[in-house]
Amino acid sequence: MTENNPQFAQWFRSASPYIRLHRGKTFVIHIEDEAINAESFNELVHDLALLNSLQIRLVLVYSTRHSIEGRLKENKIRLHYHKGVRITDAETLEFVKDAAGKLRIEIESGLSMGLGNTPMSEAEVVVTSGNFVRAKPLGIIDGVDHQFTGAVRSVQVKAINSKLDANEIVLIPPIGYSITGEAFNLEAKALAAEVAIALKAEKLIYLMEAPALKDANEQVVKQLTRLEAEQLLKSDYADAGRLHATLNLATQACAAGVQRVHLVDRSVEGAIVRELFSRDGVGTMISSTSYDALRQATIHDIPGIMELITPLEKQGILIHRSREKLELEIDNYTVMLRDDVIIGCGSLFVFTKEKAAEIACLAIHPDYHNSGRGEQLYLTLVQNAKKAKIKRIFVLTTHTMHWFQELGFKESTLDELPVEKKSLYNYQRKSKILVRDV
Ligand SMILES: CC(C)(COP(=O)(O)OP(=O)(O)OC[C@H]1O[C@@H](n2cnc3c(N)ncnc32)[C@H](O)[C@@H]1OP(=O)(O)O)[C@@H](O)C(=O)NCCC(=O)NCCS
Repeated sequence: MTENNPQFAQWFRSASPYIRLHRGKTFVIHIEDEAINAESFNELVHDLALLNSLQIRLVLVYSTRHSIEGRLKENKIRLHYHKGVRITDAETLEFVKDAAGKLRIEIESGLSMGLGNTPMSEAEVVVTSGNFVRAKPLGIIDGVDHQFTGAVRSVQVKAINSKLDANEIVLIPPIGYSITGEAFNLEAKALAAEVAIALKAEKLIYLMEAPALKDANEQVVKQLTRLEAEQLLKSDYADAGRLHATLNLATQACAAGVQRVHLVDRSVEGAIVRELFSRDGVGTMISSTSYDALRQATIHDIPGIMELITPLEKQGILIHRSREKLELEIDNYTVMLRDDVIIGCGSLFVFTKEKAAEIACLAIHPDYHNSGRGEQLYLTLVQNAKKAKIKRIFVLTTHTMHWFQELGFKESTLDELPVEKKSLYNYQRKSKILVRDV
């Protein structure tokens, strides 16, 4: 797509909310060493430079796994594992140091490259690395000495933040240093999660050498709450088994306060930019936002729904719905509960003939605003619409146009509404009509 293409402006506008959203936020990105050795590494470097120029605070954690396994094989050195953890002896540690140093230079030289004739020409990127991670030996487990395989003891948050404040990219190898002055090999994926937790990062991104999570129809699962990811891990769903270790780390990071973890297939063209700057993304996003329960409403929820929406009806934000009307339509409602108290609701009315559906009465209790719950509830209603094979969703609103527009809705006219809905339109209320494809 070029700037002469009319879609360019549309694309740029659709990306702009994300540019604002991500600025000043801390993202920890885990890269496998295959990505660094791949032909597409230059593109990845441009994309990382782009994120840096948009004032995203970037921490890169890279693995040496592939290089080490190759080098050990070449030198006919056997790898030793205990319960899936590689044991690093003194000889292997030397290979780890070599590989970590070499990869560091490759990343640094990539990011120092004159980016002329690229989207990032003139960008100057400063990369910094150092002893940001304190480690301790993993120790002796089941009688097996793990030698120089280590675990994270602490992350030098202040030191990393001072680099990020200066808009430098922080590069972290899978090596940590103990207070005795020894180096320990760390598992890079787990290290990335520990760093993200310590920095209270907004995002942890696993740029994987494998496809993101797929559903039974081989479609990428776009979103999971932490709870859903945990349930998936307990199930025998094969694709969750394939990504078990990464999904497990994702749920742990979410539980410890990282807001979103993304599992992205590196081989997808422009994967990282598409994941971060488009509504639907290309990978699987696991979000920590809510441990709140979402379920279809029952008749017993009506008092809670009324308590939530009555103040909004009084302010004229929502139209009045009598108890009788709610009783009749309760099957269309979804509720969000925290500790069994209703903190959100929304409804979906299907117009089968037109393959359209209306989202209505979407509300989140003011105590819980601005933490993504509205969007989560909306996405659940969209899932329900998809199950009902709906092609178009519309909403009538007097106060919340922009919120829906940010979710991809476009202003529309009365003629676009299903006939039945059109006849009920309240001309005095003058609600805006917004529509989007499912
Ligand atoms: C609209 C509503 C459901 C959003 O709930 P929420 O959980 O706060 O939403 P999210 O956390 O997903 O999104 C919050 C973002 O939307 C923005 N936002 C909230 N209400 C908005 C509005 N009326 N117009 C534009 N933006 C709005 C917030 O400023 C915030 O933006 P930020 O992240 O840039 O700070 C909630 O504000 C609400 O209950 N409103 C009253 C009922 C209503 O208007 N319903 C829609 C008619 S059906």
